[in-house]
Amino acid sequence: MKSSAVTSAAVTTLDTLFLFGATGDLSRRYLIPSIAHLVRDRLLPPGFRLVAIGRQDMDDDGFRSWLRKELPDQRARNNAAFEQLLAVTHYVAVDLSDRAAMAAALSPYADRPAASYLAIPPDLFVPTCEGLQAAGLLDAPSRVVLEKPIGHDLASAREINARLRGFADEDRIFRIDHYLGKAPVQNLLALRFGNTLLEAVWHHRWIESVDILVAETAGVDGREGYYARYGALRDMVQNHMLQLLALIAMEPPSSLDAGSLREEKRKVLRALRPMTAEDVCADSVRGRYAEGVVDGRAVPGFTHDSETETFVALRARIDNWRWAGVPFRLVTGKRLAHRTTEVLVTFKPVSHWIFDKPPYSSAMPNRLLMRLQPEETIELGLMGSLAAPEWGGTELQPLSLDLSMPATTQRRIAYERLILDALHGNQALFVTGEEVEAAWAWIDSISAAWDGCGETAKPYPAGSWGPAEAADFLPITVPASSRPVAGS
Ligand code: BG6
Repeated sequence: MKSSAVTSAAVTTLDTLFLFGATGDLSRRYLIPSIAHLVRDRLLPPGFRLVAIGRQDMDDDGFRSWLRKELPDQRARNNAAFEQLLAVTHYVAVDLSDRAAMAAALSPYADRPAASYLAIPPDLFVPTCEGLQAAGLLDAPSRVVLEKPIGHDLASAREINARLRGFADEDRIFRIDHYLGKAPVQNLLALRFGNTLLEAVWHHRWIESVDILVAETAGVDGREGYYARYGALRDMVQNHMLQLLALIAMEPPSSLDAGSLREEKRKVLRALRPMTAEDVCADSVRGRYAEGVVDGRAVPGFTHDSETETFVALRARIDNWRWAGVPFRLVTGKRLAHRTTEVLVTFKPVSHWIFDKPPYSSAMPNRLLMRLQPEETIELGLMGSLAAPEWGGTELQPLSLDLSMPATTQRRIAYERLILDALHGNQALFVTGEEVEAAWAWIDSISAAWDGCGETAKPYPAGSWGPAEAADFLPITVPASSRPVAGS
């Protein structure tokens, strides 16, 4: 078949996507539906084809019937776009550790450069790349797209990155963090750098603290094997939460091109202060959910016989001019009371208070709350006396400026944007090897300090806001009535 890849001055648009791990959970739940949406909206390049790769022995038709049955979301499979996608989908069953078998199995599709999406465990990245290389599918301008996690710690990430660079230059390696594909996460950049009002006060002189909360109601269910090795620190903080932190804390990039954006994020990650054994006692809490009730449903606890945490609260410090002295509190956990992802920026109090009411001690500091999911809202907390009678005009009270997305707006799956960017060769929303390594270096300092001081995961009931020890780490958006109380 003749290649229809389109070449622009610098980057080539690719029209072939190899999906490794095609029968896995991520593919069934997110990746295949994302590609079907791109087909529906005619966003894929002309001549697009999907080559799905898995271990199960099936032919093209067998895989198509399997997908028609196995796609969890009914709506995703009962439509014309899905059938259109199946018509350009091929299936290859192959053992990824067998380089020669891979080269032979993929050679019928090696007539065009391709993007290979590795939705497989990190220990298979290198053998898979060896097979791709043998098939000629890593020659420029082909690309490789990697799903997280990139390794398990700094040493393993370094090794994977070094091996990857032996297969392709950095500009053809696309490391996914699906949070970067979420429009509300990109909106953090829009808000910060599109508004004089915000960027002018984005500094330790004006900011007291930053809270980043990623709370999930879902449990570990079905992923015990993977999760027991990773835990909340490696599964969520190393990637998604540190990417959010980097977007909040980075210096203004000179443009939104991949080089400027990613370089500024890398600098922030490199400036994270490593934690010592002393620090982790004061600045971290590990938790693990026990049985409880979530959304009105009784659920079992996480009882894997490892020490793994399902909750982590951290107080991070960024050692640079902009953020000196400002704590970044990061909290994430599974089986918490509500699903929410939010960033709360608390500003310093005004330097001189001239009002009698309320007294200075009970004036609310300004706060900017950016809720990213499940709803998208922006709230700015101000002090004012709007609508007060004339004789009460200097009696201040907390007011809120609220913006929210219309409830009817449906968001795209984060992977839609990322798959398209990978095909078009735009790396801005992908993570560099250096960012990954800087993040692991900080994470390793925490896990080593935990090991050193025997810090264990404290139990918390599923459906709560985590262990009592973490109460001081929670943002003020968690209502006082549902906060964990020490000794309870
Ligand atoms: C994944 C983690 O990367 O992100 C999961 O492995 C987590 O444990 C998920 O549940 C959260 O993503 P989202 O998009 O649902 O917030």
